[in-house]
Amino acid sequence: MTESTRGTALITGASSGIGAEFAQRLAQRGYDLVLVARGADALEALAAQIDASVPAAIEVLPADLTAPAQLAMVASRAKECTLLVNSAGYGLVGDVTELTGADQVDMLRLNVEALTVLSREAAIGMSGRGDGAIINVASTAGFQPIPHEAVYAASKAYVHSFSQALAEEVGPAGVRVLSVCPGFTETAFAARAGAEFERLPSVMVSSPEHVVSCALSDLDRGRAVSIPGYLNAAIAASSKVAPGWLTRKVSAQLTRRTQP
Ligand SMILES: NC(=O)c1ccc[n+]([C@@H]2O[C@H](COP(=O)([O-])OP(=O)(O)OC[C@H]3O[C@@H](n4cnc5c(N)ncnc54)[C@H](OP(=O)(O)O)[C@@H]3O)[C@@H](O)[C@H]2O)c1
Repeated sequence: MTESTRGTALITGASSGIGAEFAQRLAQRGYDLVLVARGADALEALAAQIDASVPAAIEVLPADLTAPAQLAMVASRAKECTLLVNSAGYGLVGDVTELTGADQVDMLRLNVEALTVLSREAAIGMSGRGDGAIINVASTAGFQPIPHEAVYAASKAYVHSFSQALAEEVGPAGVRVLSVCPGFTETAFAARAGAEFERLPSVMVSSPEHVVSCALSDLDRGRAVSIPGYLNAAIAASSKVAPGWLTRKVSAQLTRRTQP
């Protein structure tokens, strides 16, 4: 820990996109960092970039969070941190019967299992110390079932539900939990999902900077949910009141528009 630090932030998915943006912003806020992802080179490059501008202690911790031993190693570090950001995650576009079962289970291991294990360990450590915060990156995809992206949407519904429940459980012990629900965001996500966001209206696509600014501001305000942008907030609100058949049809259409 450096002298002026606010403690240590452990960030998964820090090598790219929303996670990398969290790393930069949290270093500027005075946190030391533990950066987690599989790609060691990208983590080292980000660490060097942050190190050049901010006096933070930065540890690069390469790990595949779908591998049980590596997840356990990161979980033991999560227990010691003052802020945990679970940003590692990905989506797969395709029908349940077309994608392989192994690929879909692997996605659940990262989006659901690893996030749950790390949140639990961090929550135990933070509750014991009476202070800390957990930021879990869910998605607007979790607000309704999404045909052709069924498992990803269900995994994000889990993250959103789990995080809000955890917020109530550990709030009295001084631990804040925030569910961050971005919509389409310009990162490496689309390429890995087998999608393209270019055909979407530009107003529907956010930047990682905007998502993280909203998240940190909502964390400061003590909110349990962060939905960046008016359009995404409208999607969240409409999914609560619109009939299920309509939200399923609209989300299926949107997913088709992101397919190459
Ligand atoms: N972009 C969007 O449109 C969007 C919208 C809503 C929600 N989200 C959510 O936002 C989060 C961040 O995604 P992003 O948009 O920033 O995408 P991204 O740029 O692809 O970042 C994903 C991160 O997850 C890491 N990761 C992937 N598999 C991993 C594994 N097995 N073990 C450890 N780390 C792993 C990647 O690093 P390595 O490949 O080096 O491991 C990378 O750092 C995800 O949870 C995603 O579901 C994204």
